Order: sequence, then C-alpha cells, then structure tokens
Amino acid sequence: RDHAFESDVPLPDVIDTASRRTITLAARQFDQFLGLYDQFGNALTTTVWGYKAGQLGGYPGPTIVAYEDRAVTMNWQNKLPLTGHLLPIDTTIHLAMPVRRPLENGYVPLVAHLHGGHSSAAADGTAEQWFTQNGGGRGQGPRETGRTFAGSSSRYDNDQGAATLWYHDHALGMTRLNVYAGLAGFYILQDDERLALEAQQILPSGRYDLGLVIQDRAFTADGQLYLPAFRDDRLPGTTDTVGDMVPQAFYDAHGEGAPSILPEFFGDTILVNGMAWPNLDVAAGEYEFRLLNGSDSRFYVVSVSDPRVGITLVGTDGGLLPHALTISDGDGVAEPGEFLVLAPGDRVELVFNFSRLGPGETATLLNSGPEFEPFKGVDLSGALLGGAEAADAGDPVGNIMQFTVTAAIPAFDAHLSAGQALAGGFADLASDADGNGIADAATNVRLLGLFEGADEYGRIMPMLGKAEAGSIITDMMAPGDFGPLMYDAPITENPQLGATEQWEFLNFTEDAHPVHVHLVQYQVVEKREIFFVDEDENGLPDDTTGDGLISYGHGTTPDYTKADIWIGDVIPLRPEETGWQDTVPVNPGTMMSIVARFDRPGEYVWHCHILSHEDNEMMRPFYVGDLPV
Ligand code: C2O
Ligand code: CU
Repeated sequence: RDHAFESDVPLPDVIDTASRRTITLAARQFDQFLGLYDQFGNALTTTVWGYKAGQLGGYPGPTIVAYEDRAVTMNWQNKLPLTGHLLPIDTTIHLAMPVRRPLENGYVPLVAHLHGGHSSAAADGTAEQWFTQNGGGRGQGPRETGRTFAGSSSRYDNDQGAATLWYHDHALGMTRLNVYAGLAGFYILQDDERLALEAQQILPSGRYDLGLVIQDRAFTADGQLYLPAFRDDRLPGTTDTVGDMVPQAFYDAHGEGAPSILPEFFGDTILVNGMAWPNLDVAAGEYEFRLLNGSDSRFYVVSVSDPRVGITLVGTDGGLLPHALTISDGDGVAEPGEFLVLAPGDRVELVFNFSRLGPGETATLLNSGPEFEPFKGVDLSGALLGGAEAADAGDPVGNIMQFTVTAAIPAFDAHLSAGQALAGGFADLASDADGNGIADAATNVRLLGLFEGADEYGRIMPMLGKAEAGSIITDMMAPGDFGPLMYDAPITENPQLGATEQWEFLNFTEDAHPVHVHLVQYQVVEKREIFFVDEDENGLPDDTTGDGLISYGHGTTPDYTKADIWIGDVIPLRPEETGWQDTVPVNPGTMMSIVARFDRPGEYVWHCHILSHEDNEMMRPFYVGDLPV
C-alpha cells in the first residue's frame, strides 16, 4: 500500500434540491473500497458508515445542493446495525449515553449537524440532540433521545448566501468516532450572485467545480479502520503507544483493558473523498476545488508541486470573498507564501489553473503541515513554528492527491482576473474605523480563553472558558471571571437576540485550535500576540502581580510588574482568514477577535474543531436570547 495515485478520486453523488424539498438520509454501515491493497496487491474493502438516500451516497455522503431562501427538510435516520460501534468508545468522558438503549447492546447515538448553517436551534444538530436506532430484536421500540433532542427532521432555511457547507455527525463524546467511521458529506449552497458569476464563466461550474474532502485515517493490515485506544495500540507514524500517553491512574480506575481517548489523532493514510492518495484527470484549464479538512486533528499546509499551476482563493467557510486573492501566481517560480493553512473543519474555495501544463503532465497536491503532531502556526515562508517536524513529499502524509492533465477533457477557461470582484454586496462586519481593535458594529465584547487542563486521571483535557480580567475561577463547575469551564457548567455566553458581539479568543495552550461557532458566520477583526510570564500547574497564567486577580496590559513591550497578561502587536491575517468564517485557528500565544451577529434564539455550541478536543470538554454551550427559567 503506498501513495501511488492509482485510484480515481470518487465524486460523491449529488442530490439537487431544485426539484425536491425533502430528503431522507440514513446513516448505514457497508463495505467500501478506499484504495487499499494487501501485500499481494489484492484490493481490500473497509467497513465504514455513511449517509445514504436509497442507492445514492456512501462515504462521503451525497453532496446536497441547496439554494438561498429555499428551505430544505432533511429526515435524518439512524439505520446502523445493532452490532455496535466500529471503533472503541471511551465511556469515561462526557458522552451521549443512552440508558434504555445501551451502547453495549449495539445502540449508537447519532445526530447530524449542518456545519456553517444558519440553522434554528431545533434543527442545529448540537451534541445532545442525538437519537439511537429504534429498539431491535423482538421488542421493536422507539429510539432513545438526548437532552435537547427536538426531532430528527431538520428544516434548513438556507437564508444565507452561496457557500461550501458540510454536514457531519456531532454526538457528544463520540463525534470523532462517528466522523472517523465516515459520517460526513458536502452541502453546497448556491445563490443568484454566484450563479451569475458562473454564467459569465468567471467561476468554473458543473464538472469543473468539485468538492474534495481531505481526511487522514489509519488501517489494520486487513484494511479495517484503526483508531488507537487500547494501552498497547501503536500511534500511527510513531513508535509510541497509547500507554505512553495515558497515565496509570486511568488504568487503575478502569482496568488495563479500558479504551482511552487521546489528546489528538494523526493517521498515516490520506484519503480524498474516501480514497487513499487518489488521482484526478484534469483538462489543461481551470477548475474550482472546494477543499474541506474533515480530519480529526491534522492541519494541512497545502501547496502544489508544480509552480506553473496557479491557485486563486475565491471563497472561505461562509462564501465568496469580496475580491479574488492570488495564492500561487502560476509563473513557474516557487515562491515563499504560496500555500494555504487548512485546519480541521475549514473550507476554502480555490480556482486552480492547469493551462500551463501539457497532456500527460502531473502535479501533486502537497501537505507540509506537521507530520504526526499538533500544529502551532506557520511563518510567512510556510515554515512551521514551535519546532514541529514538517511533512514533505517523501512522507506519505506529505502527499494528498495528484492531478494528471489530459487532452481528453475540454478545457474550461475562467475569465477570472487577479483581484476579480466577487461578492458584490459583501458586508464588512469587522470594519474598525477608529482602529481600537473593536469592530464598529460590536455592542458587546467577551474575552474567552482556550485552556489546557487535566482530568482526574491526569489525562490532558483541553477546555474553553472565560478570560475576563478578574479573579480566577476556583470552582470549575461555576461561571466566574477567569478560567476553564467544563462543557456542562452553566451557560456563560448569552448574547441578546439580534446582538452583534465581538468574541476575543485567547489561546493559553501550546497548540493551535480551530474555533468553530455554531449558528453564525463571523469575520476576524484582528489577531494579536499575547504574553504572560509563566503558567501554574493547570496551564493557567500565573497571577504574577500578586494582587489575586488576572489583569491585562496592552503594548509592544510587556511590563509584567503591571499586569499578568499582555496583549501585544497585531499579526496580519492570512488570506484564508479573511471573508466569512465559521472556523479559524487560534495559534498558541495569540488572541483572535471575531465579530458576529447572533440572530436566532436558543441553545447552540462553540467549540474547538479538533474532534478529539471537542469530544474531550473543548466545547461550551451558548444561548441566544432570554435564558429559560
Ligand atoms: Cu463541524 Cu460543531 O461542528
Ligand atoms: Cu483544540
């Protein structure tokens, strides 16, 4: 098994909602070829989960094409067999835990979330809106449901502009497992403005407009999904085992055979649309590729091997940019900065130009992100910060897929000029005319923190919480001024219905975390460096000034006699951080400020989109409008 680019990249089935308003998608288990072979060269199939509409779909699920202001109702079904999960479940973390339909009898809680959707709270698919299969065997009975379940039919209003959204499972404490098993697909929103750009051939469309979901996986020798969880399980790409990461206290409490969540997961095999290191035959013209990072923890630093291939960024998570941004000018000379960072959950809409390549020539989509460790950021040349080892083209995970130019496909020429105007009515929500770091539109500012703590066994537990100046939260279950909060602590973020708020995320951990906020598309106001003298044993900044409070200073030169945390210089935004976003990484030692309008009522969540983090407490509920009493 190697990265031979042998298999064609699969293009998921498309369900276009122009002619239908209701779609039934069932989560099912089946065997599928993922481009794997045994040592004798025989093709292997893998048992996976996927979303199916009759014969359509699989892993990934069918691509749903929807239209602005045309609502679609999705009937989500849980048709998994009662043979139980494909992967080991850690039952010691906060978990979707059915009681009448227990996990040990093969029941699996599922809930589909439309990521990036401006959904009602009832249809959002948050972590506790799960439901199991119906009762099996002789005693057919109703499914069991989670705390905030509001029905398995979700009406998506689609009252937002064209964008590359995606749907995926979101069950509490097992999102990483359900997505790893295959429960994800594209949801492409279309609108009149984009249709006009396509009609004018400014943007490629039809067969020249493709969604590509990048996911890392690991497999057993016989081609089954492998997720390290048991003590002696080897971590892919390393010589470490699970037992090297999990303290003995965990095994003392739960037994030597208990499966454990790990801080992150990095696979050694790269799949695109469910195929290992595939190839795509392309014409010597232009294509729009909508890249989605559907991985658990892996960040990709994406570039293309041949500098004659031009790459233009036209859209981000929430839709088209105001103007096209050149990422790689295609002049044949490789230059620093010709790359994109793709964090878990992120999407970018890119126009690739292959017109300078001849028939038979190939180009490889490369990854120079960290090989088997967390991401900490990149400098302007694309070099990794924080001493992580970068993958290169000689490493399996340094390759994503290949493009082979063929004369057999007629070439599409996009009339896309450098700096091309795209989203005409683009609203600059992040505008900060007085330069005080606060978006003019924001009526409330919240300081929020990204923390790293430990659970009762000493396992790493990433968390979110409050980062306001003030006293340190000592009771972890109560909201307070400064410190981490568990997922189930009382709600601390409660915007008024219709409020435009600025949320400032301060990352007090050593790794980058992609912050995803449900309901909204946000814009990044600014990023800044933050400094603090040192941390206590819980990873919190120490109260260096000794006044019993955490306080902030601002300026280029930190003066730690005056404050405990300093907010320093502005860091320029990367091109892929501009425009409408629902998921942007916050690098270690930095603050990212975002602004969004919270215009639908009810309970949602915000969380890190490293799936092993959101499953392990790095998620918080928020509530828009009056809290129920
Ligand atoms: Cu893509 Cu809350 O998830
Ligand atoms: Cu995280």
